[in-house]
Amino acid sequence: MANVLLTGGAGYIGSHTAVALAERGHQVVILDNFRNSQRDVPDRLLRLTGKSFPVIEADIRDTAACSAALAAHPVDAVIHFAALKAVGESEADPLLYYDMNIIGTIRLLEAMQAQNIRRIVFSSSATVYGQPDTSPILENFPTRVQSIYGRTKLVMENLITDLARTGKLLAAANLRYVNPVGAHPSAVIGETPTGVPNNLMPFMCQVATGQREFLSVFGNDYNTPDGTGVRDYIHVVDLANAHALALEYLLANDVAVTVNLGTGIGISVLDLVNAFEKTTGRAVPYKIMPRRPGDVASYFANPGAAEKLFGWKAALNVDDMCRDSWTWEAKRAGINDV
Ligand code: NAD
Ligand code: UD1
Repeated sequence: MANVLLTGGAGYIGSHTAVALAERGHQVVILDNFRNSQRDVPDRLLRLTGKSFPVIEADIRDTAACSAALAAHPVDAVIHFAALKAVGESEADPLLYYDMNIIGTIRLLEAMQAQNIRRIVFSSSATVYGQPDTSPILENFPTRVQSIYGRTKLVMENLITDLARTGKLLAAANLRYVNPVGAHPSAVIGETPTGVPNNLMPFMCQVATGQREFLSVFGNDYNTPDGTGVRDYIHVVDLANAHALALEYLLANDVAVTVNLGTGIGISVLDLVNAFEKTTGRAVPYKIMPRRPGDVASYFANPGAAEKLFGWKAALNVDDMCRDSWTWEAKRAGINDV
């Protein structure tokens, strides 16, 4: 059993990871500034797990607040989720992203160093690969960042790897996630995008609830089997479990690793629409539109390293992803036939 601080623990992936850690007997402390999460998440976590999680409302850029949190709640490791994550916004406001993501991570690492906390699991992204030459992607493929968001992820990875190489950190895992979707099957926690969702699954759910008229399929002329973009979607509960196993791996091994987290299965936009309609019984009207600027055609990850190192493998399939995304979104929309 370990004591773990989750920065960004009230967010989408952090809250699911809090549940996964609690289920495995770990003690979780959440540090979040609630910039992109709901204040009732800790109550929801209590409802779901029967455990109450101490919550520190603080910004990771505030070293003193982070140090005080780590002094008040001695922890064995940090799982670092807190970041801004919107590609478009990162291009519109680069300094905000450098400040929140990179300066924020430096401040957090300073606080960890001050409290002699030397193990970290870091939320990176498969976006660091850009458009790979081939899929499945292995961790030694070249990185080709295509956005400021992606660059901040790569800088943070390098920062953590350098601290491990120089002995400042004992153990570190840079986890490169593919596209997380879904929600806890209880529909007590899930993703709560504000405004018009950018990502495919939340947008599709809102078409199915009737909140949006149709789905724009961004391009059907890619070099993919049906011409639409191919991605590796991962259920957030699988992703959360991977964090618990990565943490346990780092507690037992003084190493720094960079590991893909994906299913290894490429799914096109139309595949996902079809799976969603079949699983939920809801129609998703769509229109083929021009390509979205900045999109890559296709990628999916090789998850072999995660299995070898952490003993982790995705257990949930695309039908589970569609069902749980829908249950959550339908509940949020007040639809009671689910
Ligand atoms: P999220 O926005 O739901 O969660 C992030 C949490 O961090 C939020 O609760 C937010 O309030 C908090 N936060 C943001 N800035 C903070 C700060 N300066 N100080 C304290 N708290 C702060 O995002 P998520 O989808 O759960 O993503 C978690 C991590 O995973 C991020 O680092 C993201 O870049 C990475 N990631 C996400 C995806 C994805 O598609 N969701 C894919 C790859 C990587
Ligand atoms: C985006 C981010 C990536 C982030 C990921 C999180 C970009 C360029 N990349 O990835 O950094 O890690 O979200 O999940 O923003 N699509 C439609 N219609 C829609 C929305 C999407 O056809 O309304 C298509 C896209 O063209 C793409 C696929 O669906 O082919 C997935 O899109 P999305 O969910 O936005 O994820 P990514 O673009 O892969």
